[in-house]
Amino acid sequence: MPLPIIEPFRIKSVEPIRQTSREERGRALADAHYNPFYLAARDVLIDLLTDSGCAAMSSRQWAALMNGDESYAGAESYYRLREVVDRLTGHPHLIPTHQGRAAEKILFQLLGGDGHAFVSNTFFDTTRANIEYSGAVAIDRCTSEADDLVSDYPFKGNLDIEGADAAIREHGSVRAIVMTVTNNSRGGQPVSLANLRAARALADAHRIPLILDACRFAENAWFIKTREPGQADRAPREIAREMFDLVDGATFSGKKDALANMGGFLTVRDEGLADAARTLLTITEGFPTYGGMSGRDLEAMAAGLDEVLDDDYLRYRIASIRWVADGFARHGVPIVQPAGGHAVYVDATRWLDHIPPHRLPGQSLVNGLYERYGIRTVETGTVMFGKRDPETGELIPAARDLVRFAVPRRAYTQTHMEYVVEAMGELGAVRQELPGYRPTRLPQYLPHFTAHFEPCAPAAIPAPAP
Ligand SMILES: Cc1ncc(COP(=O)(O)O)c(C=O)c1O
Repeated sequence: MPLPIIEPFRIKSVEPIRQTSREERGRALADAHYNPFYLAARDVLIDLLTDSGCAAMSSRQWAALMNGDESYAGAESYYRLREVVDRLTGHPHLIPTHQGRAAEKILFQLLGGDGHAFVSNTFFDTTRANIEYSGAVAIDRCTSEADDLVSDYPFKGNLDIEGADAAIREHGSVRAIVMTVTNNSRGGQPVSLANLRAARALADAHRIPLILDACRFAENAWFIKTREPGQADRAPREIAREMFDLVDGATFSGKKDALANMGGFLTVRDEGLADAARTLLTITEGFPTYGGMSGRDLEAMAAGLDEVLDDDYLRYRIASIRWVADGFARHGVPIVQPAGGHAVYVDATRWLDHIPPHRLPGQSLVNGLYERYGIRTVETGTVMFGKRDPETGELIPAARDLVRFAVPRRAYTQTHMEYVVEAMGELGAVRQELPGYRPTRLPQYLPHFTAHFEPCAPAAIPAPAP
């Protein structure tokens, strides 16, 4: 038997997690209006709500915090981050922000507005919200290979180049193409270098910029190395650099592949755009050498951006997600194949087929898993995408309700993940008992964060006529 791929670290500091009873969790869930975003984290045993901002930092990152220069202007920490980002991206202008969506807000406020549009392999929900908030339209054109959840196509995150071309021609005022790597909303699936190059050519043909939503650039680089012909001998850093070389700018959340708990940035090549972005930055985030971050946040990001491209780290990271996916598959749980880079996605529409789509099978799985096992996950389907019927305001069921099991970086051991796998095995035996849900409060933007729900009997409520 081959030796297992192991965690490339040992544990120096631990944080207790708390067991609770099913009754306690039932009460907590009702108090949270059946939306786990409202749960107190102390009531959660294993938190797979997100991989964002919850990484375990390394001893090197903790040590770097002490070097944080908190000077208002021109702090050493800014120059240290700038050097790392220069080496990584080659983009001449770095605009530090407090997290990814702040970078998005600045960029899309400048490029967006009424009458304009943006095209992407798939916009993440905050990106879409920032575009729509500016008055512009966000158009997704993901490769059709992604629609087959069970095929092992290696790059299901790709942009549908022909579809994007048609959308650009049809709309007439598309302001940029945005490539999200990895493609979070479509299962954390990667984008190939070949596809990024084709997106570059398309952007050039239409004379519009190509922007990278680079949140998980390192995980994407590892998938390119291990799946794309001709890339196996290249270092992840070299592949990442080519990804950044192909684009005109990037938005980045340091809470993912910078292994930090807070932070983000915008990079651009265009000087005029950088100037305008810095003006907005100063109004909304802070002075251009710290943006929305303290000096120590800048240091943690700088150190994390170096560590994340380590071969051993990336090999372990991707293998650990694959291990959970294989466990689910062994228990007959339908998942998006192949496993993504930061999460495993369960097809709740298929697994809870006694719950019709408008009664939110994804929300039902999320709540059932929390109440019975203390595991927190998130629905990425009807609720997260939040599309509404313009007449009735009712949610339009998404093609599929997926549930995301996002794995925080370096935070949980394999035994924790074994608990999650076995919990899903047990839940499978009684899944027909899980109720449907209906929303009782549904805000206009990003509804999954703050919506309220109530359980309802799935079978008693007839589905609307097709
Ligand atoms: C693909 C993608 N883009 C943008 C963001 C926004 O980043 P932040 O949460 O730092 O605002 C996220 C966050 O999860 C994301 O996954």
